[in-house]
Amino acid sequence: MSTLQLAVIPGDGIGPEVTAEALKVLEVAAPSDVKVEPTRYDLGAERYLATGEVLPDSVLAEVRGHDAILLGAVGGKPNDPNLPPGILERGLLLRLRFELDHYVNLRPSRIFPGVVSPLSEAVVGGREIDFVVVREGTEGPYTGNGGALRVGTPAEVATEVSVNTAFGVERVVRDAFARAQRRPRKKLTLVHKTNVLVHAGAVWWRLVQQVASEFPEVTVDYMHIDAAMIFMSTDPARFDVIVTDNLFGDIITDLAAAITGGIGLAASGNVNPDRTAPSMFEPVHGSAPDIAGQGKADPTAAILSASLLLDHLGHAEAAAAVEAAVIADLAERTPGTTRSTAEVGDAVAARLA
Ligand code: NAD
Ligand code: IPM
Ligand code: MN
Repeated sequence: MSTLQLAVIPGDGIGPEVTAEALKVLEVAAPSDVKVEPTRYDLGAERYLATGEVLPDSVLAEVRGHDAILLGAVGGKPNDPNLPPGILERGLLLRLRFELDHYVNLRPSRIFPGVVSPLSEAVVGGREIDFVVVREGTEGPYTGNGGALRVGTPAEVATEVSVNTAFGVERVVRDAFARAQRRPRKKLTLVHKTNVLVHAGAVWWRLVQQVASEFPEVTVDYMHIDAAMIFMSTDPARFDVIVTDNLFGDIITDLAAAITGGIGLAASGNVNPDRTAPSMFEPVHGSAPDIAGQGKADPTAAILSASLLLDHLGHAEAAAAVEAAVIADLAERTPGTTRSTAEVGDAVAARLA
């Protein structure tokens, strides 16, 4: 018997609701010789408002000692005067991604059978929409490399400077190529804005060309971010692996979720491919304050994130079983009916039991 030491960070809003279902499924799906040992960490708005703590160093050190992290979502109630934007997003979520070196933010998108896309039948009909966004997770405009001068005056100046290191770009590009190489279509699309962001764009373009020579079977394509959004809405089947920077990847993956059945289905992994620290798995969506506490949130994205977690830890069969259970559950959803968060979790868990 081995153990899977799991740090669970339910977080805010619908985070705890969807995490409970993902954990329920994970416990049923884990191989019979693996004991899931969850440790729950109460981090998020409530703790911050009560104590001023966001992510104490001692908690980070404990979390680091686990095999993987399952996270729900962070972000308090909108416009709370006691909780300025960014405190939790930067101090908790991004700090975990940065400190644990989650440089591959993996966001798969597929239209599963029976799932309705808002795209027309002419766009999705008969085509296989199955792509993965490899979003850089530790650099770009997310590093906090900026500042503001003369705040509140008409002469205010604010900057957020995008950081793109050759080291950081090369490692995520190589990971994306390796993923493309393992997929049937073997196609990699760099999405950027090299026509305007010429400095950052040059690094990305050069390193894609350079790493391409190690992967002669992979076809390389390039698209500017704006045009990529046209094709994502008119011909998403053309994408296989997309590699892109942190901010573009954030935006692309909400659209990708929307066209493949909604944000309630979109899973993600914040992966440390070198395994120097635990990777973290979470839905793409946020804390959804508008539906929190109502048992309405779809836990499917969190459950599929648990499948990515199992796969990352080498439990490929269990991961595939979770995905298959979700696919079957989605295919048999009765149109026009709604189920509670727990009903969806129970239904998926029951298929695995
Ligand atoms: P959001 O993803 O929380 O919500 C956007 C819309 O999608 C809302 O209408 C919401 O009800 C709906 N939605 C989201 N998840 C759903 C689910 N599982 N089932 C059904 N509907 C769902 O984005 P937002 O409103 O922009 O952000 C809310 C808060 O979450 C903010 O504080 C933001 O910073 C934070 N956030 C956190 C994460 C994260 O923890 N990874 C991701 C995105 C946003
Ligand atoms: C996401 C979220 C986060 C991001 C925020 C909350 C920091 O939108 O996981 O997609 O921008 O990465
Ligand atoms: Mn996002």
